[in-house]
Amino acid sequence: MNDVSRFYSGPGELVAAISSALDAAGLDRKTLRPAGLAPVDEFHIRGRVATLEIVEALGLTADSHVLDLGSGLGGPARTLAEVTGCTVTGVDLTSEFCEVATALSEWTGLADRTSFHVGNAAATGLPDAAVDAALTVHVAMNISDKPRLYAEAFRVLRPGGRFVVYDVLQGEGGDVHYPVPWANNSSTSFLATPQDMRELLPAAGFEIISEVDSSDQSLVWFQQMRARIERDGPPPVTFAAFLGDAFGQMAANQVANLAERRIRTVMFTCTRPL
Ligand SMILES: C[S@@+](CC[C@H](N)C(=O)[O-])C[C@H]1O[C@@H](n2cnc3c(N)ncnc32)[C@H](O)[C@@H]1O
Repeated sequence: MNDVSRFYSGPGELVAAISSALDAAGLDRKTLRPAGLAPVDEFHIRGRVATLEIVEALGLTADSHVLDLGSGLGGPARTLAEVTGCTVTGVDLTSEFCEVATALSEWTGLADRTSFHVGNAAATGLPDAAVDAALTVHVAMNISDKPRLYAEAFRVLRPGGRFVVYDVLQGEGGDVHYPVPWANNSSTSFLATPQDMRELLPAAGFEIISEVDSSDQSLVWFQQMRARIERDGPPPVTFAAFLGDAFGQMAANQVANLAERRIRTVMFTCTRPL
C-alpha cells in the first residue's frame, strides 16, 4: 500500500459499515438504485450531476466498453452502466474501494455490467485500443506523472473513442488549504493548472473537443449540500464512512478553496483522432 491508497483506506470493514448504515436507515437492498448511493459512491464534486454530464460527453451506447481510471467506490461506473446499458471496467489503486465497488454493484443489480480491479491508472495492463471510451474523475490530483497517465488513457482507447477528464485543478488564488478529500497535505497532491491540461492532453495525442469550468456550480453544490444536511440531517452513509471525522474540515476547506479560487473544477472532453 502506498501513501495514496493509505489515505483512502479506512479502518477496514467498509462493506459491512455501509451495509449496516443502509439497514439502520431502513433502506431495502433489493430496491437500491445507484442514485440512492450517490452521497457515498460518487466521490467527486457535484456528484451524480457531474457523472450524468460525462455520460453525455462520452456518447455511449449499450455496446460500449468503457474504462474508468481511478474508479473509487464505483458510483460513476454504475451510473454510466445504468443510464446507457454499457459495460464498465474500473481500475483503482485502493483495494478496499474495489471490494466495496464490487459489493455495491451486486446490491444494485449491476454486477454483470461493471467490474473493478486493483491497479494503477497509469499502467493498467490492458491491451492497446481495448476500450471504446474512457474517463477519469478526481484522480489525477493524486498522480504526479500526468504524462504517463494520459499516455496510458490514449493507448487503451480505440481510435475515434472519447476520453473525459473531470478533475480538480490548481486555481490562481494560491496554495490549497489542507486537508482536502484527496490528501492531508501537499505530499500526495499534484494539481495541474488548466493551462497544463491544455498542453498535457494534446501531448499524449488527444484532440480536446471541449473544456468546461464548473467551479461556480461546485461552490453552489457544497452550499446546497450543507443546507440539505442542516434541514434533513446527513444521508445514511457519506464519505465520512472512510474519510472519518476529518471529512467535516475537508468539506469546509473545499468551500474556502473554491471561494478563494485556489482550486477549479474543470471537465475536458477529448477524442483519440482516427
Ligand atoms: C476522490 S476518489 C474518486 C473516485 C471516483 N473516480 C469517483 O469519482 O467516485 C480518487 C480515487 O483515485 C484513486 N487513485 C489515486 N491514484 C491512483 C492511481 N495511480 N491509480 C489508480 N487509482 C488511483 C484512489 O484510490 C481513489 O479511489
